[in-house]
Amino acid sequence: MDYSEDVWLDFIGRLHPILVHAPLGLLVALVAFELWGMLRKSAAPNQGQRRFLAFVLFASAFAAAFAGWRLEEENGYTWEGFWNHKYVALTFLGLCGCAWIAALAAWRSAYGWALFLALCVGGAAGHLGGALTHGDDYLFEPFHPREASQPAGTPATSDPAPAKDVTSEVVAPPAPPPTWYAARIAPIFAAYCVGCHGPDKQKGDLALHTGALVLAGTEHGRVVEPGDAENSLLFELVSLPLDEDDHMPPPKKPQPSAAEVAELGRWIAAGASLDAPLPAGDVAPVREVEAPPSAGDAPTNDAPPAPAEQAQAAPALDPALLAPLLAEQVHAECLDPAADLWWLDYRPRAATDDAYVERTLAPLAPHVVELSLARTQVAGACLALVATLPHLERLDLAQTRCGAALDALRDHPVLRSLNLAGVALDAGAVDVLASLPALERVYLWNTGLGEQDLALLKERRPALRVDSGEVHTAAQDG
Ligand code: HEC
Repeated sequence: MDYSEDVWLDFIGRLHPILVHAPLGLLVALVAFELWGMLRKSAAPNQGQRRFLAFVLFASAFAAAFAGWRLEEENGYTWEGFWNHKYVALTFLGLCGCAWIAALAAWRSAYGWALFLALCVGGAAGHLGGALTHGDDYLFEPFHPREASQPAGTPATSDPAPAKDVTSEVVAPPAPPPTWYAARIAPIFAAYCVGCHGPDKQKGDLALHTGALVLAGTEHGRVVEPGDAENSLLFELVSLPLDEDDHMPPPKKPQPSAAEVAELGRWIAAGASLDAPLPAGDVAPVREVEAPPSAGDAPTNDAPPAPAEQAQAAPALDPALLAPLLAEQVHAECLDPAADLWWLDYRPRAATDDAYVERTLAPLAPHVVELSLARTQVAGACLALVATLPHLERLDLAQTRCGAALDALRDHPVLRSLNLAGVALDAGAVDVLASLPALERVYLWNTGLGEQDLALLKERRPALRVDSGEVHTAAQDG
């Protein structure tokens, strides 16, 4: 089989941990030889042997350094611990070179000093290299046991060390209910991150194997800003496109799913708490659902809930209400666990019609912040119900026949974004759009509205962002 040059170079890089032993072992032998020779003249190596052995020492140190350089190329280490190892190791190589030159020139005492210094520096380089793969504290760890590597929320029973951080002081009850962190977040880190950011290695000086360490970040600062996913380095790096250099995990490694990335974002946005319970109404399979006592009182389709006033005190969304939707391919996703607000997307269920929306949406009304009916069969009758959703901020009606019923949405208090691409509209639509006080953005491609209508809308709502390109399709929704 043919392997590319890169494969071989990567292979050489991975020989580094083996190759480094050769110069160190040889050096110990050379020093021992010289010491022995000082005691017994007859045992001292002769000049020829010295030259030869010093050459082998330098050559083996060079080979180890070359392999180390390949390993660096492959892994792209950039943090401080690595530079320490690299420069100390290069100093070692330099000293081996000096020893060789001194042997060639027969400078006895320079040779002795070079060997002695190389022994000290080589030991340090070896230790720093070990720290890279085993963690900074590897050597001295037996003297001060590290915090046990278990997810927050489980009691640290066997850890005799005084607690280093706040969370490990919290003694959990014998059978604590799963926290959001322990049930969902820690498993993501464990699956995709802890290999490089864990007890054994802390690449980028970051460890993610306990909740406290996740929140602690690196010595340069936090990587999680509780409540602010957008400004959290961790979330930013994980969300970067795969081809960006800084993307985490590094591109060739197993990647978390979009849902897992979203879950991280949600957890951070909700405050990145280590003790918070799983968000109410969450339908993920990992947990047991406790049905709220009032489940039977959930509003039916005859009695759609009244808007705003009722919504403030809305009971947590009952997962049982979502189950039939999920079974029919409707997508449901909690966007704001704190407020228990959800995104419902009927698009995957193309056969969706007004009656189906009315039946399934009514019980969820207080919890819908984003709704997509794009490309479904709805014809507008359901907009009367949609108009009562108290928290609805984003609505996607692209490629539907809802145009004639748009009037139902008039004056909706919180609707911010509306996608009407491909919906046949008449001039009356401008009036409805202008009536929406919170509207920031509207998509109006292929709606049949003329330039005059658009100009009128612009005049009535100057700050409104209107997307009305003609060649686009509704796929670019907002
Ligand atoms: C294959 C090893 C590897 C894996 C797996 C990995 N990382 Fe990293 N990570 C690195 C390296 C190497 C750096 C340092 C990059 C640098 O300093 O330029 C880093 C740096 C980071 C940083 C920046 C730290 C700082 O302050 O500079 C964050 C945040 C991060 N990783 C998060 C993650 C998360 C979250 C995951 C899992 C989803 C993950 N990483 C998986 C190797 C990895």
